[in-house]
Amino acid sequence: MPVEILEKIFDEILPSRAMIEIGPSRRDSLGPSGLCLNWSQSQGWRVPELMLVSKSFREAVRLQHSTPIPALGPNDCLIRVQAVSLNYRDIATPLGLYPGAGKDGIVPTSDGAGTIVAVGDDVSEFQAGDRVCNTFFLDYQDGIPTAESRAGSLGVRNDGPLRQYAVFPTTALVSAPKHLNARQASTLPCAALTAWNALMGLGGCRLQAGQSILTQGTGGVSLFAIQFALALGATVIATTSSDTKADRLRALGVKHIINYRTDPNWGETARKLSPNGLGVQHVLEVGGEATMAQSFKAAALGGCIDIIGFLAKKDGEPSKVSFWDAFTGLNVVRGIGVGNRKQFGEMNKFMEEKGIAPIVDERVFGFGEAREAYEYLKKQEFFGKVVIDVAKE
Ligand SMILES: NC(=O)c1ccc[n+]([C@@H]2O[C@H](COP(=O)([O-])OP(=O)(O)OC[C@H]3O[C@@H](n4cnc5c(N)ncnc54)[C@H](OP(=O)(O)O)[C@@H]3O)[C@@H](O)[C@H]2O)c1
Repeated sequence: MPVEILEKIFDEILPSRAMIEIGPSRRDSLGPSGLCLNWSQSQGWRVPELMLVSKSFREAVRLQHSTPIPALGPNDCLIRVQAVSLNYRDIATPLGLYPGAGKDGIVPTSDGAGTIVAVGDDVSEFQAGDRVCNTFFLDYQDGIPTAESRAGSLGVRNDGPLRQYAVFPTTALVSAPKHLNARQASTLPCAALTAWNALMGLGGCRLQAGQSILTQGTGGVSLFAIQFALALGATVIATTSSDTKADRLRALGVKHIINYRTDPNWGETARKLSPNGLGVQHVLEVGGEATMAQSFKAAALGGCIDIIGFLAKKDGEPSKVSFWDAFTGLNVVRGIGVGNRKQFGEMNKFMEEKGIAPIVDERVFGFGEAREAYEYLKKQEFFGKVVIDVAKE
C-alpha cells in the first residue's frame, strides 16, 4: 500500500490517540517515513480463564487496555471494528453451558462489522475504506463443514471481534450489505446466516412462497427466520412467552402466534393453524431436546426440522423422540452449523434485493458497557439483536 494512503489512514481514519504496529511483514514496505508505531491505546474484552464457569459476567469478561495488534500477514485486513452483536452462545460460554472447550484469554463474540483500514500485500478483494462483516468461521468458504473449518469459529477458541481493532484474513470477511449501517450489519454473521442456512441451505428443502414455517421464541435466529420467510412469501407461525413480543411479531406480519408457556402442546396447535392443518415445511428448532417432540408434531410430511439450539435445556426433561417420529413423518432432521461464506454472500444479496433490515433492540450498549450487554441478553427481555456500538462511549 502506498505510503500516502497509510498516512491518510493514520491522519483521518484512526483516532488520534491510537498508534499502530503493522507487524514485521509490513515494516519493510513502509519505508523510512516512520509510520510504524507502537500500538498503545487499543482496547479489547477478553475471557480470562479457560472454560470459565461463572455466575457473573464481571468475572467472565474483562476489559484489557493497550492490546497489541497482531502482525498483518499478506492475506489479512486490519479492521476498525464499529459494532458487535451478541448471541446466546456468548453468554452460554462463560456460564459453562456451551459444549466444547474454550481457550484462555481469547477475545469473545463472533459477530462484528467495521471498516478496513489497511490490507496485506496480497489482498486484492478488499481495500481500505471497505465496509465489512467478519464471518463466524475463519475459513469456511463453501460446501459442508469440515473439522478444520469448524475449528476456526470465533469467540471460543479464536479471537472474536469485541475489540477496537481486529485483524482477519480475507477468508473471514464479506462486504457488508450496502443498505445497512454498522450496527445492523454486525448482527449478520451468526444468527442471520444460521436462519438463512436453515431455510435455504439444503437443496430440495429450500423454503418457497406459499409454504409455512414454525419459529420458537423471539431470539436472534428466530427473528431472522421470520423476516426471511415473510420476504419469500411464506406463512409464519411463531411462539413466544411474552404478550408484548407477540404484538411486535404481529406487526411484522406473523400470522399465528402461540404462547409456549401457556400452551405446552404448541407443536400440535401450530399444526392445526398451518395451511389445511397439514403441518409446516420448516421448524427452526432452537429449544433443543426439550422441544423436539412438539417440533415433530408441527412438521408436515417430509418437513424439515432444523436442529439449531438448546435454549430450553433448563426447562425440563429431554422429550421422547425416536427413529419412528422421523420415519413416519418422512422428515428431514438437519443439524445446522451457522453457514459458509458463500451463503453469507447470497444472504446479503437477498437482503439488499428485499430491503431487509435486521431488527436491533432499542437499547444499544457502548464499548465500555459490554458486561451490561451480556446481562441484558441473559434476561431475555430484548426484542431484536443486542448490539455493542464499539465507537460509542
Ligand atoms: N447451530 C447453530 O449454527 C446456531 C447458530 C446460532 C444460534 N444457535 C443456538 O440457537 C439458540 C438460539 O440462539 P439465539 O442467539 O437466537 O438466542 P437468543 O437471541 O438469546 O434467544 C432468546 C430468546 O429465546 C426464546 N426462548 C428461551 N427459552 C425458550 C424455550 N424454552 N422455548 C422457545 N423459545 C425460548 C425467548 O423468546 P421469548 O422471549 O419470545 O419467549 C428468548 O427471548 C441458542 O441455543 C444458540 O446457541 C445455534
